[in-house]
Amino acid sequence: MSLKNFQTRDNETISYFDSEKGNETVLLIHGFPFSHEMWTPQIEELKKNYRVVAPDMRGMGGSSLDAQFTLEMLANDLIFMVEELELPKVHAVGFSMGGYVLLRALEKQASLFYSITLADTQTAPDSDETKIKRTDALLAIKEKGLEIFATGFLTKATTQETQNNRPILMGELKRLIGKNSSRGAIGLILAMMGRTDTEAILSKLTQKTLILVGEHDVITPVLVAQKMKEKIPHAELKIIPQAGHMSNQENEAFFNMELESFFRSV
Ligand code: MLT
Repeated sequence: MSLKNFQTRDNETISYFDSEKGNETVLLIHGFPFSHEMWTPQIEELKKNYRVVAPDMRGMGGSSLDAQFTLEMLANDLIFMVEELELPKVHAVGFSMGGYVLLRALEKQASLFYSITLADTQTAPDSDETKIKRTDALLAIKEKGLEIFATGFLTKATTQETQNNRPILMGELKRLIGKNSSRGAIGLILAMMGRTDTEAILSKLTQKTLILVGEHDVITPVLVAQKMKEKIPHAELKIIPQAGHMSNQENEAFFNMELESFFRSV
């Protein structure tokens, strides 16, 4: 069980966690502006029964400090990784930005994935208004650094209750964000701004699909999750109580329980 690397076709290094043992794989695809470490509460639980693989996207964690890439390239990295490592029975779990990347990878090569989990994510691209706000975020990161940006981001990404009553979790989330490079985070913002709609893939998915969303998520709200569910042929939706956008961290026990029960049902 360790951190490993692979080289992408365009010679960037992708770092990933691999628990190595298991007949089925859980592939955990992180959100912005985190690395695979955002999945620690899931890795600890899931590695008991599955091979858990969790990459760091370009620019984040231990991966190359690349800042010029598109969302398509992130999807290519994911596909390349599944193929190169010959991962068995891949249960892919994409959280928020990780969901954007997974949905694009599904458009390209759906047959690589055994089941799909879309957590606190959406198919829509950025609206013009969001794009303009992203520019503000980009400049804030450039001028003040990721740690300061984290404070504002987490105010939106977690519930008031989490903010008031869980200082250790809030500190940890801030620490995880602050560990990443500003340049890499800016690269991811630009990649997200340039992404296109992935809604068309939903009706074509043949895999069993789980949609998870924090009940108080204001970034990718419950209504968005409900609309995705309606379009996917074999989907179930579970709403994570007492959680905002960071549902895997704010209610890790519920999140893990739903994930494991879904994997057993596939
Ligand atoms: C994330 O959690 O990955 C981000 O909030 C996604 C986004 O900014 O669109």
